Amino acid sequence: MGNILITGGAGFIGSHVVRRFVRRYPNCHIINFDKLTYAGNLANLRDVEGMDNYTFVRGDVCDYDMVREVLCRYHVDGIIHLAAESHVDRSIYDPFTFAQTNVMGTLTMLQAAKDYWQGNWNGKLFYHVSTDEVYGSLAVDGSRFTEISRYEPHSPYSASKASSDHFVRAFHDTYGMPVVVTNCSNNYGPYQFPEKLIPLFINNIRHGRPLPVYGSGENVRDWLYVEDHARAVDIVFHEGRSGETYNIGGANEWRNIDLVRLLVRITDRLLGNAPGTSDRLITHVTDRKGHDMRYAIDASKLTGELGWQPEYSFEQGLEATVRWYLDNDEWLDGVTSGDYMNYYARMYGDR
Ligand code: NAD
Ligand code: DAU
Repeated sequence: MGNILITGGAGFIGSHVVRRFVRRYPNCHIINFDKLTYAGNLANLRDVEGMDNYTFVRGDVCDYDMVREVLCRYHVDGIIHLAAESHVDRSIYDPFTFAQTNVMGTLTMLQAAKDYWQGNWNGKLFYHVSTDEVYGSLAVDGSRFTEISRYEPHSPYSASKASSDHFVRAFHDTYGMPVVVTNCSNNYGPYQFPEKLIPLFINNIRHGRPLPVYGSGENVRDWLYVEDHARAVDIVFHEGRSGETYNIGGANEWRNIDLVRLLVRITDRLLGNAPGTSDRLITHVTDRKGHDMRYAIDASKLTGELGWQPEYSFEQGLEATVRWYLDNDEWLDGVTSGDYMNYYARMYGDR
């Protein structure tokens, strides 16, 4: 595939996917299409921005005319669609923005691709990156989500992602568009915006601020290192069967409270603090509304069909992640101070 448009490439996972594709496929032109919301940051891609096969275009996935024009200008064959509003807490306070970006934005991308490709599906692919949250919540009983688990989203975020998944499959079933969908578990690693649990807590430990654990802290998440997700995207993009869904997960379940204790231990050690220094920061606060109890992914279809498995152990990945945030305090301070947003406002006009 010659020209690949990646939406949301300036965000957390998108930046890892863009970096991987730009480096591994020098003969492919990678177009990063991103609106640069608060979560998008071109500093995430400093190391590839000068490469010949990389182009950044600032744009909104809800803007049909612009998307269509960009698809046409760059003769796009493949689309990897990651752009989304991604934070559950924000969706609870502002569901409309989630419906707009995640539902209407995905539909706009699909319609623009359909109109541009005009039924010539040969060598084309629309790859939609989605989440395990569409399946709802599991009991703490060892069960896991498979590709045929019922859709049962609870938050406005997961409802919007569920809806976008349905539109993607509808374009396959109705028009014959080649599509794949992946549903992945919680990612962690460098360049994640510090509103999500792991980078937020590392940053708070750094500043001696409270670590707000929602409710009892017994909720369970299945954590995957972001590079393992980017490698899965690469494999599914190149080898996945059209019309199929693949679950991606780390087989790595942690109760929030246990993860937080481990994170505190590692961060204190790397900061040179005495063991236990930051334990006092752990604070139980009011639970998230509609807080899903447990997510766990059965990734055996992806492993069996395409041979993917996570490569990073959690111990390796988490320590590397903490080290990265501590070594990149300028990045952390930049995204928390809003300096980078002023920079982009100057460069690209109002946001
Ligand atoms: P993120 O919030 O870090 O990044 C989202 C990116 O999308 C940002 O660069 C933002 O500027 C861009 N964007 C937002 N609205 C846009 C619009 N209207 N037009 C163009 N660009 C826009 O998100 P993330 O955590 O990297 O997640 C990426 C994708 O992966 C999302 O679709 C998310 O649902 C999915 N996902 C995330 C996780 C996770 O653990 N973070 C797990 C599974 C799936
Ligand atoms: O499962 C995949 C999903 O993982 C992605 O689709 C989402 O985009 C991504 O944000 C993530 O959703 P979560 O809600 O699971 O991630 P978050 O980091 O917000 O929270 C992880 C767990 O930690 C969750 O049970 C809520 C809890 N939490 C979170 C924050 C921010 C706290 O206890 N305190 C906090 O301050």
